[in-house]
Amino acid sequence: MDSSSTSDRVLVAGASGATGQELLSALRPTDLAVRATTQSYANVTPLERHGVDEVMVVDFFESADAVAAVEDCDIVCCALGTPPSWRHVTGGKLVDRTGVINLVTAAVSEGVSYFVHESAIGVGNSKSGMPLPARLLVRGSLAAKEDAEAALRRSGLNHTIVRPGKLTNDPPTGEVVVGEGGDSVSGSISRADVARVMAAAPFTPEAHDRTLEIVGRDGLSGRPTNLVDIDWATDQLVADRKHRRI
Ligand SMILES: NC(=O)c1ccc[n+]([C@@H]2O[C@H](COP(=O)([O-])OP(=O)(O)OC[C@H]3O[C@@H](n4cnc5c(N)ncnc54)[C@H](OP(=O)(O)O)[C@@H]3O)[C@@H](O)[C@H]2O)c1
Repeated sequence: MDSSSTSDRVLVAGASGATGQELLSALRPTDLAVRATTQSYANVTPLERHGVDEVMVVDFFESADAVAAVEDCDIVCCALGTPPSWRHVTGGKLVDRTGVINLVTAAVSEGVSYFVHESAIGVGNSKSGMPLPARLLVRGSLAAKEDAEAALRRSGLNHTIVRPGKLTNDPPTGEVVVGEGGDSVSGSISRADVARVMAAAPFTPEAHDRTLEIVGRDGLSGRPTNLVDIDWATDQLVADRKHRRI
C-alpha cells in the first residue's frame, strides 16, 4: 500500500493506556490520521488534547465495537491490556484474549492492511525470558496473550507481534535490542521505545510477519541470543512520507 495518498488512518487500540499514549506521541509528527480508543468518556478530552483526529469510546469485549473501531483504518496498533486484577493469575475473560481476537477478526473483515500487536516476553516460546515468580503471577494473561498471538498469525493479516520485556516509563532511547524465536532477549524497555518500534513496524519490511522480542540496550539482562538486526523506519515515518510504503 502506498501511503502517499496522505489519508492513511491508524487505529490506536488502547490509546488511553501508558503505551497507547506513547504511540500517540510517536504518530503525532506523521501525516497519518489517528483514531484513538478508550473505554472511558473521561479520557476523551485528554486524548483530543493529545492531537488525535478522532476518539472512540469502545469495549473490545463487544465485537460490534471492534468492527466500528477498525472501519476505514489501514493500520491497527493494538496496545490493549488488562488493568491490575486477579484475572492475570486465574485467566478467564481477559481483553488480552477476547478483545484482541475481536479486533483481529474485525481487521480481517474490514480489509485492514497492517496489524501491529503488543504482546510480552513470557508469552509462548518466550517464557524463559520472564522470571518464574513473575510468570506465575500473570500466567492467566500470558495464556490469553498466547491465544491472541496465534489468532493474529492465523488471520492472514500482514502483521508484526512485538513482545517487550518489563515496561518502564523512561524516555525513549532509540536503542532497542531485538531477538526472535522466543529464547532470545530479556530485561526491560521503555514504553516510549516500544511505541516507536510499533509505529515504524508497518513501514519496516524486515519486521513484516514476524514475532520479535524487544528490550532496551540499557535494560538488557543475561546473555542475549538469536539476535536480529532490524533497521526500524522511525526516521522515514516522518521524513519520507511520499515514499513510505506498507
Ligand atoms: N507491565 C509490563 O511490564 C508489561 C510487559 C510486557 C508487555 N506488557 C503488555 O503491554 C500492553 C500494554 O501495557 P500498558 O501498561 O502500556 O497498558 P495499560 O496502561 O494497562 O493500558 C491498557 C489499555 O487497554 C484498554 N482496555 C482495557 N480493556 C479494554 C476493553 N475491554 N475495551 C477497550 N479498551 C480496553 C485501556 O482502556 P482504558 O484506559 O479506557 O481503561 C487502556 O487504554 C499490555 O498488554 C501489557 O500486558 C506489559
